[in-house]
Amino acid sequence: MRIDVVTLFPDFIAQCAAFGVTGRAGERGLLSLHAWNPRDYAEGNYRRVDDRPFGGGPGMVMLIDPLRSAIHAARAAAPTPAPVVYMSPQGAPMTQAKVRELASLDRLILLCGRYEGVDERLIRAEVDEELSIGDYVLSGGELAAAVVVDAVARLQDGALNDAESALQDSFEADGLLDCPHYTRPVEHELGTVPAVLMSGNHAEIARWRRMQSLGRTWLRRPDLLDETALSPADRRLLEE
Ligand code: ADE
Repeated sequence: MRIDVVTLFPDFIAQCAAFGVTGRAGERGLLSLHAWNPRDYAEGNYRRVDDRPFGGGPGMVMLIDPLRSAIHAARAAAPTPAPVVYMSPQGAPMTQAKVRELASLDRLILLCGRYEGVDERLIRAEVDEELSIGDYVLSGGELAAAVVVDAVARLQDGALNDAESALQDSFEADGLLDCPHYTRPVEHELGTVPAVLMSGNHAEIARWRRMQSLGRTWLRRPDLLDETALSPADRRLLEE
């Protein structure tokens, strides 16, 4: 199996190939790991890969184009088609069944972002699925990608000397999934940033974000909604 990882920290991913079961799978020719740095595809003197989020708020959002070029380069590096999996706390929870499914593929591309976000349009255009390693927040997707690499490597025929245990999930503090994020440019061939985020109306932006969060949680993880103490305002938003 071949795994390509799109990451700002390629050295981190190289470490996965150096130790333990993953290292052994590599030595035995069962797994090959390759890293692609979006910064190598960024333009300008500063090779910028992120920008401030439209609508305000903390953190930075990763730009579309450096990520998209890195994904395309990874895809073109081998002829076999490869699904793109974005490591994200908003993804479907990883299970051993999912690990088995991924481990049966010839190829896989893992996309690592920072938690504040990747421009939503890139996700919609390039990502086949979003995968979370649990309901907690890491500062980037690399550790999560390393978890996938490890879990998938040990399922390659001949990688394990003996049987080992499965992965575990846990619960997110907030209880709701995050809303979509957007950064420059406003107009892009992949779509336009929602107008409300540029309105400057903080109450409307907060309301939109809450509604998106509730809608996503309702659609993707209704089990989390059941356990969330929804305010009367949230209930009205859900009914809209
Ligand atoms: N990136 C940040 N937190 C993550 C998580 N819990 N799972 C996958 N990717 C992540």
